[in-house]
Amino acid sequence: PHPIIFDTDPGVDDAQAIAIALRHPEIELLGLTTTYGNVDVETATRNALLLCQLAERTVPVAQGAAAPMVKPRHPAPAHIHGANGLGDIPLPAVSGSPEPRSAPQFIVDTVNARPGEITLVSVGPVGNLAAALQLDPQLVDKVKRVVVMGGSIREGGNVTPVAEANMFNDPHAAARVLTAGWPLTLVGLDVTHRCVLGPAHMARIAAGQGALGEVLAGSYAFYRDFYRDFLGIDGCCPHDSCALAWLLRPDLFTTAPGHLTVTTHGDAEGQTLFAPEGRAFIEPRWSRTPLVEVCLETDGPAVVEWIADTLG
Ligand code: BDR
Ligand code: CA
Repeated sequence: PHPIIFDTDPGVDDAQAIAIALRHPEIELLGLTTTYGNVDVETATRNALLLCQLAERTVPVAQGAAAPMVKPRHPAPAHIHGANGLGDIPLPAVSGSPEPRSAPQFIVDTVNARPGEITLVSVGPVGNLAAALQLDPQLVDKVKRVVVMGGSIREGGNVTPVAEANMFNDPHAAARVLTAGWPLTLVGLDVTHRCVLGPAHMARIAAGQGALGEVLAGSYAFYRDFYRDFLGIDGCCPHDSCALAWLLRPDLFTTAPGHLTVTTHGDAEGQTLFAPEGRAFIEPRWSRTPLVEVCLETDGPAVVEWIADTLG
């Protein structure tokens, strides 16, 4: 199995991805680290603990970034994930509590205990990864890989014409994480917008997941209303599950190597800028930026089928 730390801001699509991380036999989930993003960080932590409880799994949950590194915190718009992050459905009380360590410290300690083995999967603003790098710059050589759900190469943004939400919510952290020089794969809107998880798939998931399935299906109904208004589709883009789909089923994706960074200010704040490997630019810093891998295309229906098969 793949040992992973899952960094998240749950969030409706995060909740589904957490369920996959908890259930998939080829994933060894070492911990959840939480960040502000879709909700404030305390709510993200509560939701992470609740999802583990509903799945009857004991997994460390370490709380992290409460705000972006530099820019002021943007309150999350409640019409996307609900004020409680899970579609405003009533939620049971949480009995567990978070790790005493902060998310960045948890990442540093866990990776150092198993150098070369662990994949960091980040599906929210990446402040925890940036802070972990600040604590231990050698992490770049000790992680197996970093998978980031965020950004967009050709697809355009979802917050602004050019910026995807996770990049927009902490562009300074994103610029550090994407240029750090560790093995990294970006799973952005180019592929997540090709995946539409419809009500029939959700019914399979609900039927397969007991108490956890009730929360996944209830929150999905809220998210589906948002997507109907936002993109005019009947279903939801399972953005965060796509990061795990790439990890376990890379055959369903087309990727390309290149140099990547993020714009940190101005109208293009949060835009991912991608220079394909081998393309010459007059400005030399582009060829000095470390190489990463970006997803460009996917078989969307196959990814959605994989999600429903995993949880159904
Ligand atoms: C990303 O933004 C969040 O709202 C989702 O959870 C996902 O991580 C998609 O742009
Ligand atoms: Ca997310």
